[in-house]
Amino acid sequence: MTLLDYVPSLHKAATSRIDPAIWPLTAGVDDLGRLCVGDVALTDIADEFHTPTYVLDEADFRYRLQQYRGALRGVEILYAAKSLLTTDVARWVVEEGIGLDVSSAGELAIALAGGVDPSRIILHGNAKPVDELAAAATVGIGRIVVDSAMEIAYLSCVARRPQPVLIRVTPGIDIGGHPAVVTGIDDQKFGFPRTDGRALAAAQRILHQPALELVGLHCHIGSQVTDATIYGEVIRRMIATMADIRRSHGVVLHELNIGGGHGVPYVSGDPALNLDELADIIDDALDWACAAERFPRPRIVVEPGRAISARAGVTLYRVVSVKSQPGGRTFVSVDGGMSDNPRVALYGAKYTVTLANRHALGPTQRVTVAGRHCESGDEIARDVELPADVHPGDLLAVACTGAYQHSMASNYNMVGRPPIVAVKGGRVTELVRRETTADLLARDRGWSGGVVLHD
Ligand code: LLP
Repeated sequence: MTLLDYVPSLHKAATSRIDPAIWPLTAGVDDLGRLCVGDVALTDIADEFHTPTYVLDEADFRYRLQQYRGALRGVEILYAAKSLLTTDVARWVVEEGIGLDVSSAGELAIALAGGVDPSRIILHGNAKPVDELAAAATVGIGRIVVDSAMEIAYLSCVARRPQPVLIRVTPGIDIGGHPAVVTGIDDQKFGFPRTDGRALAAAQRILHQPALELVGLHCHIGSQVTDATIYGEVIRRMIATMADIRRSHGVVLHELNIGGGHGVPYVSGDPALNLDELADIIDDALDWACAAERFPRPRIVVEPGRAISARAGVTLYRVVSVKSQPGGRTFVSVDGGMSDNPRVALYGAKYTVTLANRHALGPTQRVTVAGRHCESGDEIARDVELPADVHPGDLLAVACTGAYQHSMASNYNMVGRPPIVAVKGGRVTELVRRETTADLLARDRGWSGGVVLHD
């Protein structure tokens, strides 16, 4: 499929409201000024499923997977399920011929329920509970990435067959950015440092365990990387470590997983990682490093999450109130917030917001779109331009919300989590239903099955 196959009949990206770098591939505006995705007016989704609701453009999600396959030939691509996972999403990944990485028994269960072949799944985590290791080994998971000496001991007890494993190594590379998503330096919780002998010691431990089969190394330097050359340096350092392992232990590892972290734009003008450039850099770095170490070219694996799921997602909110504080900002408050999008409060993330239910002509004003939760830091976006006449009842759409929103949502203030509704070619499918107050009460010992509000 090409990009043109996805462009539907509405007048699309030409509309200035919709920057195609940020909004889903099929986003556009119809004659009534309504924002549409997948040939569905978002007002119709809001009417049927209420707000807040996560909308997912299936075509956009699949298109990103296809782009990866096309650009990174010879590289194995695993979708990072932590960014967004439902059984249907897992099925789309399978149908596009791609594997998956998971970081808990819950994600593993959803992937399996979605039909992913366990041999195409890889398990991560710095503190995997032993029963999760046992469950993963029992279902025949393809790879487990070991992250501590204790885990090597646990896994060697529960593995049913020689379990293929990778060692998570910190390459000692700082990508900058928010500290919460910097994982390539030594002073953080993931992995074994490569320079002080600990990665080598981990390899030795694994090689002494008959239930484990060491097949390669893994690293993940963090998220929102837009400079592809960093991955070249990652490869050079990791190949050097593979050569160290060969020198010390006489084994040649054939797999190098360089993780994910491929950056996407959230607001117009943000940079994105260029996949063609990444492909060239991977190739050149492998040529260089393998020649320098006289090491056979390993199979390269990448694990993009956000770069596949983020742009497919749009979140819909209803405006509840508009308030201008004297001498201060104008707050457009909506019926969701940090419970469905914690990324603004956690990382200071920036988002793009537009009016979704009518034409946005006339003058605009600079506003803060605020959430409904009991914290002043509960914001969706600051300093965004919305029509000066924005008012309660208007529908707002927030772009690029497919990654780390559903998967990080909470019940703060006992608010139920939103549904996920997929759209494609005019068809609407509810992938995950809204969490109701009854769902929340059902977990509470004190509930006797009495009155439930709002359901
Ligand atoms: N592989 C590993 C081992 C990872 O830990 C991650 C993300 C990925 C791949 C995928 O990274 P991506 O391509 O999606 O950047 N909650 C944060 C992001 C945390 C990422 C954790 N690990 C956020 O909302 O920005």
